[in-house]
This record gives sequence, C-alpha cells and structure tokens, in this order.
Amino acid sequence: MSFIGYKNGKLHMENVPLEQIAEKHGTPVYCYSAEQLADNFHTYQKAMRGITSDDKFTICYACKANSNQAIIRLLGRMGAGADVVSYGEMYRAFKAGIKAKKMVFAGVGKNEAELLKAIKNDILQINVESEPEMNLIAAIAHKESKQATIAIRVNPDVDAKTHAKITTGTSENKFGIDIKAAPALYAKAKSLPGLSPTGVAVHIGSQLTDLAPFEEAFKRVAELVTTLRAQGNTINTVDLGGGVGITYKDETPPDITKYAALIRDIILPLNVHVILEPGRSIAGNAGVLLTRLMYIKEGQAKKFLIVDAAMNDMMRPSMYDAYHPILPCNEAPPKAEKVQYDVVGPVCESSDTFITDGTFPKMEPGALLSIMASGAYGASMSSNYNSRPLLPEVLVSDDQFDLIRKGQKIEDVIAADIIPEWLT
Ligand code: LLP
Repeated sequence: MSFIGYKNGKLHMENVPLEQIAEKHGTPVYCYSAEQLADNFHTYQKAMRGITSDDKFTICYACKANSNQAIIRLLGRMGAGADVVSYGEMYRAFKAGIKAKKMVFAGVGKNEAELLKAIKNDILQINVESEPEMNLIAAIAHKESKQATIAIRVNPDVDAKTHAKITTGTSENKFGIDIKAAPALYAKAKSLPGLSPTGVAVHIGSQLTDLAPFEEAFKRVAELVTTLRAQGNTINTVDLGGGVGITYKDETPPDITKYAALIRDIILPLNVHVILEPGRSIAGNAGVLLTRLMYIKEGQAKKFLIVDAAMNDMMRPSMYDAYHPILPCNEAPPKAEKVQYDVVGPVCESSDTFITDGTFPKMEPGALLSIMASGAYGASMSSNYNSRPLLPEVLVSDDQFDLIRKGQKIEDVIAADIIPEWLT
C-alpha cells in the first residue's frame, strides 16, 4: 500500500498536502508517513506470525536507516526491537523506549566503551565481527561478572548482486568471519569466560531485489548451525540481518511473505529464535525530501534544475548513483510539455546531482518537488558539508504533522568550532 500520492492534483502524504509542510517548516525538509512505516513493519510482523509464534522471533529495526527517535518509538510500540551499530544508536534506541532484551549490537569496529555499555545493559546479543573483538568482549564481560550473549557474524561468501558499495557477504568484504573459520572460533568462544556464544548472524548486503542470494546464505547458515551443534555448541538464535530491497525505479522487491517462507523452510527446522534486521524496507518508501526549485539554468548542453536540497542532505545519488524519482507537488496535466533536465543541488561538486537527463513537465522556479523514497539512508547519512545545516524532519499521521527533529541553525553548525587563543 502507498500512503504518498496525488489527490486533486496535489501530492499528499496520507491526508496532508506536502505543500502545507513546506509552508510551515520551509525547505528542504524530510517528511515521513507514520502509516507507511507502520504498514511496512506490520508486513514483516504478519509474515513472521504466519510461520511461527511471537516468542520465536524479534524484528530488530536497523536504526542506521533512520535513527530519529520518533520513528524508533513508533516501531517499538508495534513490537520492534533495534539493531544498533554505535553507542549513539544504542542511546537513541533506549531513549525511544526499546528494551535491552530487544537490542542487537552489530558493526565491524565496536570500541571498548561501546562494548562496555552493551554488556552492562545486558542487551539481547552482540554480533562479533572478528576474533580480537571477541577477546575484548570476553575480557570486559569477565571483569564485569557478566555473561555476554554473542553471535558470530559469518561471511557466507554469497554475492548479493547489489551495488558494490552495499554488498557485504563476499570474501572480498570487511564484514563477518569466514564461514569456514567459524567452528574454530566458536570452540574458542566456548572456552572463554564471560561469553555465551549461542547465536549465528549473517547479513549479505542491502537493496537485494532477488531472493536467491538470501536462500543461499540461509542454507549455508543452517549447515553451520548443524555443524556447530554436532561439535557440542548450544546455538539457539539465528540473526538473518536485513537487506530486502525496495522500489526506487522499476525494481521488483522480494515479497516479504516469500522471504518468510524461506525462513520457514530453511531456518525454522533448526528450532532457533530468529532475529531480523530490516532497515530500508521499513523506512525507505515512508519518506520524501521536499525541495524547492530555485533556478533554471540553461547550460550549453543541458538544462539544470537547481534545487535547494543537496548531496549533504541526501547522499545516495552522489554516493551510489542511486536513482530517486522526483515528483512535482503540483501534478502536471497529462499533456504538459516535457523537458529534459538534470536536477542538481547547490553544493560545489559535480556529483551533487539528484537526476541526470530526467524527463519532467516544464518547470517554473519556485516549484515544490518531492524526492521520493528518501526515508532510509537519507537524513541518517546527511552531513554539514558546505556548512549547510541539518534539515528538519516531520512525521505525518493522517491529517496531522509534527516536527520530529528541529532543523539546525547556522549557529548550531559552527558552535563546536574553537579558535585557539594564539589566533585571537
Ligand atoms: N544489518 C546489518 C548488519 C547491516 O549492515 C545493515 C545495513 C542492515 C542490517 C540493514 O540493511 P537494510 O535492511 O537497510 O538493507 N547507505 C546504504 C545502505 C547501507 C546498508 C548498511 N548495512 C544505502 O543508502 O543504500
């Protein structure tokens, strides 16, 4: 179901014309649909409930996709846990009301202070990414007289067939531990004080549009669990990561019911608790970035729409050549003249381009545009490059909308700079 579309010629999010949000909060501004977030989460929950009971799975929303506390809170109230990758995300998730026993700590380089927080808080699981990290977790837990529940994140060497910068499960990637080396590491984990090595974790990449790589990875994980058990390990949890793709242009993302059927067929026979870590497929299509068309520049070879959002606000197009459709908030009549434009931002880089050679209805400066499917890895990856303030964020629910993050003022942007005394 989509909660974003035209009604009476105006682009709406639920029952709010997006124009209203721009009028109230200015542009650029991120807007999210509460109904769409809830619907996306519910799709996972329903699919999992269709294959197993509530106590047998935890859907840990990958906070990196969008770590706004209001969004984590909304999902948490529906039963979501959190997948966090830094103390910052852990802190946000706690503040948003997620319980420690629903929190997974992942990430390739967790530092000592972060691990200490995770261990002291008795979170559900720490996903181990290397042997030295495992040794450190054991040492901290032992010192704190705790047992840290860990899963070793294995790298199954499966090509996720997604963009190179977001593939994680091949032997070329920095992530996880070679699945062949895992049994020896579990043996070591068992011998260390402070560790309960009871889980196996995997995550092969993001924006996967085909189920086949998931199937392959799940099979390899299931084999590993069988091997580990035969060696006397108690494995009671399998964390299958995230990675399910969404539609940006013409992709057909996997059906979540079919994804769950893979879990039912391959993983449930192991009688384990299943953790999922979806991010993009929860937040991605629930958000848009509203931007105002400032200038139309007729270049020598091209026409440029210069908008007020830029690569620092939304990095995906410049970083991954990602395509995000851009819609005018005032619907163009079907017979409107079509023009080719590049849509670009104000930042001083050629890669500050949202769309190259896009076909749009003829535009006028001042038009409000909506950069679609920006809810995941949009705001959370934004930066202050070019000393541009971070953007406000708004959550829409039915015909209401609330500010869920204040936009920075320029004073906030420069507040942490210090001019040393010798320069004054
Ligand atoms: N679990 C782990 C261990 C991960 O590394 C990730 C994403 C997820 C779960 C969530 O994956 P999702 O369901 O969102 O695909 N910035 C990139 C995406 C980076 C993904 C990083 N890891 C982008 O904008 O495409």
